[in-house]
Amino acid sequence: MEEQYNIQINKTENSRIGEIDFNNLAFGRTFSDHMFVVDYENGEWGTPQIIPFQNLSFSPALISLHYGQTVFEGLKAFRDKDGVVSAFRPEEHAIRINKSAERLCLPTIPEDLFLEGLYKLLEVDNEWVPKQEGCSLYIRPLLFASEEFLGVSPTPSKCKFVIFASPVGSYYSGAIKVLVETEYVRAAEGGIGFAKAGGNYAASLLPTKQAVEKGYQQLLWTDAKEHKYIEEAGTMNIMFQIGDTLVTPATSTSILSGITRKSVVALAKKWGYKIEERKVSVDELVEAHKQGLLKDAFGTGTAATITQISHIGYNGVDYELPPVEGREFSNRASDYLQKLKDGQEEDYMNWMVKL
Ligand code: COI
Repeated sequence: MEEQYNIQINKTENSRIGEIDFNNLAFGRTFSDHMFVVDYENGEWGTPQIIPFQNLSFSPALISLHYGQTVFEGLKAFRDKDGVVSAFRPEEHAIRINKSAERLCLPTIPEDLFLEGLYKLLEVDNEWVPKQEGCSLYIRPLLFASEEFLGVSPTPSKCKFVIFASPVGSYYSGAIKVLVETEYVRAAEGGIGFAKAGGNYAASLLPTKQAVEKGYQQLLWTDAKEHKYIEEAGTMNIMFQIGDTLVTPATSTSILSGITRKSVVALAKKWGYKIEERKVSVDELVEAHKQGLLKDAFGTGTAATITQISHIGYNGVDYELPPVEGREFSNRASDYLQKLKDGQEEDYMNWMVKL
């Protein structure tokens, strides 16, 4: 990619990389040496910079802390078996953050600025991309209103865009138990559920905590109006196999348009599976389970990639799904994505951007 922005680079003299145990990476607890930062003021983006990873300092009147005017992305970079670093579908993330930004009245980020900042950060912090199997550098672009003002404003005069990164291992270990949520909602139609906005995650915390206390790892969110249709699984999109058909809730204003979801749908089509993007009711799942037709359920997301579901709890019953070993599609998709990222599969969908 031809460079358009003159990104100022100030490298740290004290790398922390020697302190990291790359063989025992937790999710999101340690951060690479640098971060990309650019400020928006008076209607324009300022000078982009790469600086040592550091705390930001703010007044307590920072708008986004009060009114949640903040959106983010999550994407990953991988090191393949030959040591080459690639990012998975970064352009999709550059596009999606702007959809989120528009909904929350934040300025959009020129896609080239997003990508150039990301690639430069990955160049400077290249050594932070783990080589260990199943590990990656999780990249967190974050955009928020940084004006110090107690008014609620659709035109914040100051905003900040930051990209920082964290070497990570897997998000979940093994299949998870999920509980169908029929009281609380994550997002309602017409709200901000489709945006990657901090507030969506805040709304999910209390009900998820209650589900964890009951022995589940995550919730299956249902629609806000009737609690009848499945929307998402925890922080992931959700897919089922009913008979020989893959089924996933169609995206809407209350469902995140996941990039892993989109990729898995594309793989299913490429490989000739029947796949339907439509409403999926809880009743349909229970009925399919009764008839022995509920063959698979799995979440898709950047952090979790593909996470299979072992049980679905609903109305006091735990519906057990078939053993994960025998699940053809989710294992094939998970295996393909893993090998693609390790450079052991052909990138016939053109998803990996080599740096
Ligand atoms: C992601 O999959 O990147 C997410 O947004 C999940 C995150 C909340 C850990």
